[in-house]
Amino acid sequence: MTDIDPHVGGDAAALPPEGVHAALGAARRAAWWKHDSAIVDAGAQLGEGSKVWHFAHISAGARIGERCALGQGVYVGNDVQIGNNVRIQNNVSVYDAVTLEDDVFCGPSMVFTNVYNPRAAVARKNEYRRTLVKQGATLGANCTIVCGHEIGRYAFVGAGAVVQKDVADFALMVGVPAKRIGWMSRYGERLSLAVAGVGSDVCPHSGDRYELQGDICRLVEEGKLP
Ligand SMILES: CC(C)(COP(=O)(O)OP(=O)(O)OC[C@H]1O[C@@H](n2cnc3c(N)ncnc32)[C@H](O)[C@@H]1OP(=O)(O)O)[C@@H](O)C(=O)NCCC(=O)NCCS
Repeated sequence: MTDIDPHVGGDAAALPPEGVHAALGAARRAAWWKHDSAIVDAGAQLGEGSKVWHFAHISAGARIGERCALGQGVYVGNDVQIGNNVRIQNNVSVYDAVTLEDDVFCGPSMVFTNVYNPRAAVARKNEYRRTLVKQGATLGANCTIVCGHEIGRYAFVGAGAVVQKDVADFALMVGVPAKRIGWMSRYGERLSLAVAGVGSDVCPHSGDRYELQGDICRLVEEGKLP
């Protein structure tokens, strides 16, 4: 995805009030932007600076924050809350009962689910299990999140992993089923900490200091992300 604004406003007639152009001097600027081929159902809310790329579909009940990027072919359901600065790469469906906090990264073609035990002939719309992805977490390309779980703050799910349990803050999870193999800093690099036990490490990029106690990794001194 590029960061250009080739076509301010898109299909203005189809936009809810939040998307209507605001005149800023001579330049016209949209609160948020969509490509002409994307469909944003009336009633959907998107914050300022968010961009919706080719062939995406945002449902009426979706609540999307500021500065988000929704890539080509992304689907967002009705019962979905998305925070600020969330990046959703191409071909991701964010189904009902999924919540993404600020700064979440969804890699290309990763998969959310909302029915634990689907059968085509059995209606289970009242059995959705919720998924909460906490601030700053990364979900790698082509991973799958089995519904009913929380992904911790700044957790990192590797490409192709299948998550079927709650994930701790800062945990690095890989494989099928996903297992914790270490811990990732807010910056997105491996910390020098054991999988479990006692230890501490400082991220050289931010100055963040982390402490591990048992199965819990905590950010104990917050530096500054570059
Ligand atoms: C997890 C990741 C960041 C690598 O982290 P890392 O700390 O550099 O890990 P390493 O490459 O040193 O690998 C450590 C071990 O985990 C394994 N591993 C790493 N990534 C894995 C993955 N995605 N699935 C399964 N195993 C993986 C390695 O094979 C290695 O195993 P070994 O110790 O038995 O040899 C990277 O592999 C990854 O999955 N990145 C996500 C990329 C992505 O989806 N981007 C989306 C935007 S394009």
